Amino acid sequence: ETTPLADRFGRIATDLRVSLTDRCNLRCEYCMPAEGLEWLPTEAVLTDDEVVRLVTIAVERLGVREVRFTGGEPLVRRGLVGIVARTHALGVETSLTTNGLGLARTASALAAAGLDRVNVSIDSIRPETFAAVTRRDRLHDVIAGLGAAQEAGLGPVKLNAVLMRGVNDDQAPELLRWAVEHGYHLRFIEQMPLDAQHVWSRTEMVTADEIQRLLEKEFVLEPAEEPRGSAPAELFTVDGGPATVGIIASVSRPFCGDCDRVRLTADGQVRNCLFAREESDLRGAMRAGASDEELAQRWVTAMAGKRAGHGIDDPTFLQPDRPMSAIGG
Ligand code: GTP
Ligand code: 5AD
Ligand code: SF4
Repeated sequence: ETTPLADRFGRIATDLRVSLTDRCNLRCEYCMPAEGLEWLPTEAVLTDDEVVRLVTIAVERLGVREVRFTGGEPLVRRGLVGIVARTHALGVETSLTTNGLGLARTASALAAAGLDRVNVSIDSIRPETFAAVTRRDRLHDVIAGLGAAQEAGLGPVKLNAVLMRGVNDDQAPELLRWAVEHGYHLRFIEQMPLDAQHVWSRTEMVTADEIQRLLEKEFVLEPAEEPRGSAPAELFTVDGGPATVGIIASVSRPFCGDCDRVRLTADGQVRNCLFAREESDLRGAMRAGASDEELAQRWVTAMAGKRAGHGIDDPTFLQPDRPMSAIGG
């Protein structure tokens, strides 16, 4: 018997996003300052066994059916392949959201461990723009990683691109053309107020409508027929299909009403929303000797406090205390 992770608005979380580290080997402008952040101390981060224990509780007692590993950058976590294998053994779908650095080296091991899919961030296919956005000249590594992931069967490989005005917004069509040619499914993402530097501004954000207009300079987009379900991306066919492009309009067209997600941070805190103001400390409870039953109960209680939506447009909106890289995206 499982107890669903239900909230007061009738939503049930079946999709668990697990952050495995807050560290990253890139320094994307919209995420982190050049010097990086104050990383979690090692002892605060869950061990591999602790991660697997909590994931097992989520799957066996709480009805979670999909597990996505995130970061920071999850490929910098040493135990990743083992964690994936032990999660796959629970019989759930497993996926990874990564910046792609080092994926060329690890894709086949991840596939062998049972990883189903990867989503890879890539904001430009021009080396200079990529280096300007990420502050590292590593585009070639990402492209090699993408090829390796596709070959290893970690697909359909999805690409995530965040557009920034005056930086890469004018490159949206060429990025889409490149993705379609290579058989990757590209999604453009509206930037959310989750940057460590707190410089996000609603008026500077490249909106979903603008993204559509930028793409329509070179392509014919039509809303795709496939049902969207709880997925963040709205899909459009490109030039009549079969290729599609996604737009993740988290801010201008929120999809919170259909949310089926719950998050676990690298330091073992449950977050019922990306923008949650409170977290529930499973690590502390676990290290104090809580039983699986008690941890499951805490998790259920944490979900009951989930708010209706992110509230970004509310006058009282406050950015969460932790940035995207520490929450897991
Ligand atoms: P798929 O299952 O492959 O569709 O994954 P995904 O799109 O849910 O995950 P991914 O990690 O690739 O995230 C893409 C973008 O969607 C990122 O900017 C995420 O922060 C954003 N995103 C994912 N889940 C949520 C969510 O629950 N709320 C909001 N607002 N954004 C989300
Ligand atoms: N808003 C939206 N998406 C973001 N990402 C990182 N920071 C933000 C933000 N502030 C993207 C990354 C990655 C995914 C997990 O989220 O580019 O693809
Ligand atoms: Fe779900 Fe919160 Fe994301 Fe809205 S912002 S979709 S409620 S996690």
